[in-house]
Amino acid sequence: MLTVALPKGRIAEETLAIFEKIFNTSFHFDDRKLILEAHGFRFLLVRNQDVPAYVLHQSADIGVVGLDVLEEKDEDLLRLLDLGIGKCKVCVGIQADKEIDYTVPELKVATKMVNIAQKYFSKKAMAVEIIKLYGSIELAPLVGLSDVIVDVVETGATMKQNGLKVVETIMESSAYLISNKNSFIEKKDEITSLYHKINTAITQ
Ligand code: PRP
Repeated sequence: MLTVALPKGRIAEETLAIFEKIFNTSFHFDDRKLILEAHGFRFLLVRNQDVPAYVLHQSADIGVVGLDVLEEKDEDLLRLLDLGIGKCKVCVGIQADKEIDYTVPELKVATKMVNIAQKYFSKKAMAVEIIKLYGSIELAPLVGLSDVIVDVVETGATMKQNGLKVVETIMESSAYLISNKNSFIEKKDEITSLYHKINTAITQ
């Protein structure tokens, strides 16, 4: 049996839809349930940012998670396949009527993606003060907590509704099928077979 960690929300639904297509059966979590056992799989419903931990510590053999989260966590995990779902970008945002002020000694950056932000600005040799937030990032520049934000942009609606604009795109992201090295060795046949089935299903 393979245990699969899925991130709550649309990516979980879209991944289960891929499994339904492959196995021609229904995969459906009962209300509020976090574990689903069906058709030789055990699915775990976890927070997006927690998928790498479940897979890394082998509570799950494989998982589905955004490339943005993988880059942020930077764990020793195998990236098996780009599923082409959950597409989004990680962007630098600022108030629509402003531009980044490169003359300030230290740019204040609010984000939940501390490592991605840190790496990005250090590559540009810009001194930054990173303010770690857990959500509602778009609020920070509006109340003077930060000069800019680094955040996930999907439709762009949240930024727009809050009078922000994208000034730079740091990376493009989509959901990846991942595995830990031990599971990949121990359950190589199962994982490889599933990999091929998913690959076929998503390229059809
Ligand atoms: C992300 C991000 C934005 C929003 C962007 O949060 O932090 O607030 O989505 O989407 P949009 O461009 O379509 O408006 P998410 O809902 O993923 O929540 P999270 O904080 O739980 O990751």
